[in-house]
Amino acid sequence: MKGLKGKVAFVTGSSRGIGRAAALELARAGSSVIFHGTAPSAALDSAAAEAGSDSLKLTADFSDLQAVELLAEKLIKEQMVPEILVLNASVQSYTGLGNFDAAEYLRMFNTNVESSCILLHRLLPEMRKKMWGRVIFVGSVNGTKPASRLALYGSTKAALMNIAQTAAVENAPFNITVNTILPGVIETDRNAKALSDPEFAAMLKEKVPMHRFGTAQECGELIAFLASESASYITGAEIPIAGGLQL
Ligand SMILES: NC(=O)c1ccc[n+]([C@@H]2O[C@H](COP(=O)([O-])OP(=O)(O)OC[C@H]3O[C@@H](n4cnc5c(N)ncnc54)[C@H](OP(=O)(O)O)[C@@H]3O)[C@@H](O)[C@H]2O)c1
Repeated sequence: MKGLKGKVAFVTGSSRGIGRAAALELARAGSSVIFHGTAPSAALDSAAAEAGSDSLKLTADFSDLQAVELLAEKLIKEQMVPEILVLNASVQSYTGLGNFDAAEYLRMFNTNVESSCILLHRLLPEMRKKMWGRVIFVGSVNGTKPASRLALYGSTKAALMNIAQTAAVENAPFNITVNTILPGVIETDRNAKALSDPEFAAMLKEKVPMHRFGTAQECGELIAFLASESASYITGAEIPIAGGLQL
């Protein structure tokens, strides 16, 4: 990956799954990565250790907006403002219109959307000073495609897609690109339990034109590409990584 050496990257939710794969891919390409998880954990330690002994780790539960503010403040005060910001952390529950739950919606909205807005609001003015930057949102095919059981989660991803487009326009003059990847079904801890049911997994694979699920590594490599110099003229893009599930 061109142009990632020496860059500072902050990847939210990088203790596991897609975030972890993206963070490690960025580290392999020479970036200094700040790892993040909800709270201290063995998974967070192991991800950061794999990237190298000098990798930093930060924790904050994004359902707690005050904690997100403090995290942003720490990054600025301690001169750790990233050049590459990967907004990946999210929570997901099977809550639709049929079993609507206001408290759950607020938790998902705060964690998935408002936390990202706080980070962008606080970090973008600092990132602009360098006249180079990358913001990569991890959305979902559910952001565009209705799925009853994931209706509330999908709406948080749709909101992020709209915010990403505004951020892309506003930050283009500062040489900061803003893009969104839209994963389909990716095998991670998040859906391990659901996919361990062979019948459900087979039914889902049938819906994917490529008849297989994706890997965190495939998503991590796409994120690293978007962060690299090779993607310098791509902004405002929404890229499905879903084996055709978006069709
Ligand atoms: N997997 C899929 O099929 C799929 C499909 C479409 C979109 N996506 C999107 O891809 C992204 C990554 O998903 P994944 O499957 O890799 O998830 P995952 O394996 O469940 O990992 C989630 C990551 O987010 C962090 N996180 C969870 N709750 C958090 C909170 N309240 N505050 C801060 N951080 C929190 C976790 O930290 P801890 O380790 O501390 O819990 C972990 O690092 C998400 O935005 C998800 O919506 C995934």
